[in-house]
Amino acid sequence: MIRQALLLSALLASPALSAVRPTNLQSSVLPIRSRVVMRPDGMDVWSGRRLTRVTALAVGAVRVRIGLEGQLGEDASWAVLPEARQATAPVTPLTWGFAGAGLVVTVDPATGGLTVADTAGHVLLKDIDAPARRTATGGGAGFQLAKAMPANWRYFGLGDKTGPLDRRGGSFVTWNSDSPFQETTDPLYKSIPFVIPVGPDGTAAGLFLDNSWRGFFDFGKGQSDTLRFGADGGPIDYYVLAGPTVKDVVQRYARLTGPSPLPPLWALGFQQSRWSYMSADEVRGIAQHYRQDHIPLDALWLDIDYQDRNRPFTVNTKTFPDMAGLVSDLKQQGIRTVAITDLHIAFAPNQGYAPYDTGFVGDHFVKKADGVLYVGPVWPGPAVFPDFTRASTRDWWGGLYKDFVADGIAGFWNDMNEPAVFNTPSKTMPLSNLHRIEEPGFATRTATHAEIHNIFGMENSRATHDGLLKLRPDERPFVLTRASFAGGQRYAATWTGDNSSTWNQLRMTVPMLLNLGMSGFAWSGADVGGFLGTPSADLLTRWIEIGAFQPIFRDHSAKDTAYQEPWVHGPVHEAIRRRFIEERYRLMPYFYAVADETARTGLPMMRPVFMDYPDALDTDCPSDMVFTVGGKLLVAPPPQPESPGWYDVCLPKGGWFDYWTGKPATPRMRGTRQVVQEKPALDQLPVYVRAGTILPRQPLVQSTMETPVGALELAVYPGDGCAGTLYADDGHSLGYQRGAYLRQTVRCSVTPTGLELRFDKRDGSYKPWWHDIDVVIHGWNGPAPTATLDDKPVPATADATAATLTVRIPDRRDISFLRLVRTASDH
Ligand code: GLC
Repeated sequence: MIRQALLLSALLASPALSAVRPTNLQSSVLPIRSRVVMRPDGMDVWSGRRLTRVTALAVGAVRVRIGLEGQLGEDASWAVLPEARQATAPVTPLTWGFAGAGLVVTVDPATGGLTVADTAGHVLLKDIDAPARRTATGGGAGFQLAKAMPANWRYFGLGDKTGPLDRRGGSFVTWNSDSPFQETTDPLYKSIPFVIPVGPDGTAAGLFLDNSWRGFFDFGKGQSDTLRFGADGGPIDYYVLAGPTVKDVVQRYARLTGPSPLPPLWALGFQQSRWSYMSADEVRGIAQHYRQDHIPLDALWLDIDYQDRNRPFTVNTKTFPDMAGLVSDLKQQGIRTVAITDLHIAFAPNQGYAPYDTGFVGDHFVKKADGVLYVGPVWPGPAVFPDFTRASTRDWWGGLYKDFVADGIAGFWNDMNEPAVFNTPSKTMPLSNLHRIEEPGFATRTATHAEIHNIFGMENSRATHDGLLKLRPDERPFVLTRASFAGGQRYAATWTGDNSSTWNQLRMTVPMLLNLGMSGFAWSGADVGGFLGTPSADLLTRWIEIGAFQPIFRDHSAKDTAYQEPWVHGPVHEAIRRRFIEERYRLMPYFYAVADETARTGLPMMRPVFMDYPDALDTDCPSDMVFTVGGKLLVAPPPQPESPGWYDVCLPKGGWFDYWTGKPATPRMRGTRQVVQEKPALDQLPVYVRAGTILPRQPLVQSTMETPVGALELAVYPGDGCAGTLYADDGHSLGYQRGAYLRQTVRCSVTPTGLELRFDKRDGSYKPWWHDIDVVIHGWNGPAPTATLDDKPVPATADATAATLTVRIPDRRDISFLRLVRTASDH
């Protein structure tokens, strides 16, 4: 306590913090004197009529609520978990501010402007203009806030907006829109008003504007040193999250809004979709082709044409005469079925269409301002729209899945849920439409569509997720949604929507998915091969290669485009594509262990390199195309994926292995940086493994439903902090939440006489599929050593050409030490 007090007083006296006191806040003509009233968990700052309430939260964040006219908005949120909002942290008062939740918040007495710093004195966010009203559309009272943007800070997040990974210099609107996109299209399908400012030394913070109205973020485009953001209505309610690292921020954000839950294992497999496979026969043909050509596949997707006249929750029984039979036949081949169920319900009174009839009787549809049912055209023609902000409507919606669940359909796809409405310039429903809110924290009231629009898709996917959980209480729901909002990762995976089959769009998948991952959506993908248009053979091949290392790996294409399944361009391309899909399946134990980490921490599978290696921020060969899978595999596609030119890949400090050869990488130094030069070749994708990694791999399977034959492999890449984690469970149920899982860390260390592998205690009760483990040590030179597992000899084989040593050990719960001791003469 005393140490903490000393640290704080030193901090306040430090030039770092005095330098951060706001100076240029425009306090209008008359100076505003502020008054601070301390609270046990924060403070109220009165500046004229303006009230700013700052609350320290246990997750390591401060929440800032501002009432420009003295009244705070509703204390409610669609995004933030109630427990995270309510668990406050004690604060230590300072003369003009407080320290708490790992942050130091100070007030400029003259203006009421806030500066948030970390306890080391780094300024994270600092007001430079007073919060102000702003003209807005949609009937709300708009506002804007302004924070300083230091020249060398970078800004990430906002989900899958287009543009470079770093948002600096860009300006974006948050308004869920059905927007087939090109390089600069904005807004897109999702709104995630979460930003991660990152300083040059890796110091990071989070900024989350918890407001569902149409909003904007201007990252120095209007004014180069100013981050300006705001919304067209609703409360001024934002959170500043403590770091100190990007990883910390992402984890705190997951505690605030919920992590992406563990998906069913099959969702990490390869998936094939098309708008549309037009009949059950066609679907069977695709499945058969996959199996004949030995290309692994886990899911086939049914787009809108399986339905009767595009009506959700119907089946065209002429073309799909036996849905249950189709689903079960596919399952026999290790393939799950996913079906689209758009949110709009055909406006079809008196036609025996149960979703309309029951929805109408239950009063579940959105109405216009005058109280009349709202009808707008979408795929089925005139359609009505469920009022997903009501718990009772979500319950009714969830029940609509009953028959499809009975048919055995494994996953569901919620599309068009911005909501998209055809033949209208706004592409959505009128802003004056009325929704009814039934949600803890919110008053039970009506709200205009202007307020609800951005959370409509998220609440649609929530209804689906919760409904599936009711219908199959012990199965992990799999829902894919196009529209969503912050926190929507709790209910559904997502994809980037209608991209195109161009090289540039392949390039864009990486920064889009990286920013989605940093914005809470770990389970995301882009249509592999591109949705609109037809990919060239080379483009589809490259796309499959890169997609194989991205979280959701689904090939999908639009109507009136050529087919783009892996075999369409002949055997040479098919062989390359097969090889990369196979590698995904070989790496599945690693992907799944990372998925378990994601579910527990919120850290995404697909990460910018700097998330695990902050020195990657300080590089002169940046590439928005480089990313890691779980921090240990670094994937480095060509920065211009169509270009044949050489390119440099910077490897963060420390050792790396070439994943494909298994041999240590040999970068050359350029200044203080390690660089490898790569020459693009269509059948190759550079991938590096961090020295100090133990990667679990498995024998090839054609589907995650198939039990691998052979041993589990532990590929050991010796180096500092050498470790890896095994994770397994049944892949589909919620049993893992009751202890039916296996989690085990394995560590390795180089000893003076060889190498030692230590198996930590195995957690959980799950019995895995493997009976043996092949430990493969990379970078092994010389003959085989004496190998003992808990002092009993085990066979070891050295391969001089591959520079590997393989040791087969029997799997048991209680193994603890594998010791490799070179014979004296080999030391
Ligand atoms: C939308 C979706 C697309 C889907 C199509 C037909 O355009 O984004 O993925 O194939 O609708 O359902």
